[in-house]
Amino acid sequence: MTTTDRLAAEQEFHDRQAADRAAAFDAGRADLRFADADYLDHETWVRPAFLKLGDLAGKHVLDYGCGHGMAAVVLARAGARVTAFDLSPGYVAEARGRCRANGVVAACVVADGEELPFPDAAFDAVWGNAVLHHLDLHRAGRELRRVLRPGGVAVFCEPWGGNPLLAFARRFLPYPGKDRTPDERPLTRRDLGPLREFFAAEAEGHQLLGMVRRVWPNRRLVRLLDAADARLLRVAPPLWNWCRYVVLTLRAR
Ligand SMILES: C[S@@+](CC[C@H](N)C(=O)[O-])C[C@H]1O[C@@H](n2cnc3c(N)ncnc32)[C@H](O)[C@@H]1O
Repeated sequence: MTTTDRLAAEQEFHDRQAADRAAAFDAGRADLRFADADYLDHETWVRPAFLKLGDLAGKHVLDYGCGHGMAAVVLARAGARVTAFDLSPGYVAEARGRCRANGVVAACVVADGEELPFPDAAFDAVWGNAVLHHLDLHRAGRELRRVLRPGGVAVFCEPWGGNPLLAFARRFLPYPGKDRTPDERPLTRRDLGPLREFFAAEAEGHQLLGMVRRVWPNRRLVRLLDAADARLLRVAPPLWNWCRYVVLTLRAR
């Protein structure tokens, strides 16, 4: 697949998703307003990852592949000056509407993460959730490095592909929210290579046993498994490679 075809397929898929979501908002079945916790606690890795951005007051922060724009709103509420972008015009429209509905200001633009329309060293920090695994990491890493100021930090939460059992489940088990674009794939150690050309990179795993929530969302069980994960990952750090998601912290050298 050429780069042009890949980007066109990504845009079409996400525009279709955004149009379904817009219909729900228009019909009053969904609300654009939300509390920070709705975003920060919608998955277990989001809040700890957000903390890695540090104090955001007065910082210029990029929401990279912003989708619905919830992160842009949370970043703005934390005092950041926010620019958000996405390849999908439909999602950018939702992000703009969400900023308006929540009374915050953010510049929301349509752009490709592999060819950014921003000046060099424009941002103090970058946030991204579930986006890098859609991109060509060499092209994206180079652009990311260019727009991040020296000493700045980029934090990304991404699906991880180091666990063969999980790879089997992702491929063969039916579970809610499984819709995917043809080219996206969970990241692996090999994908960290291109990013390490541009950044000092750290990876932290989330949801080892706790990933069971995807097929068995029993609250008590999930609480127990999350507690077990916290211990297991502390005593045996290499187990992070078997987790469902990773938080990547990239520091510009
Ligand atoms: C799984 S969604 C995640 C959206 C959002 N960050 C979130 O937390 O829900 C992936 C997003 O990446 C965007 N995307 C895919 N390829 C992109 C690219 N080359 N440049 C910018 N955005 C892209 C999609 O349009 C989509 O909004």
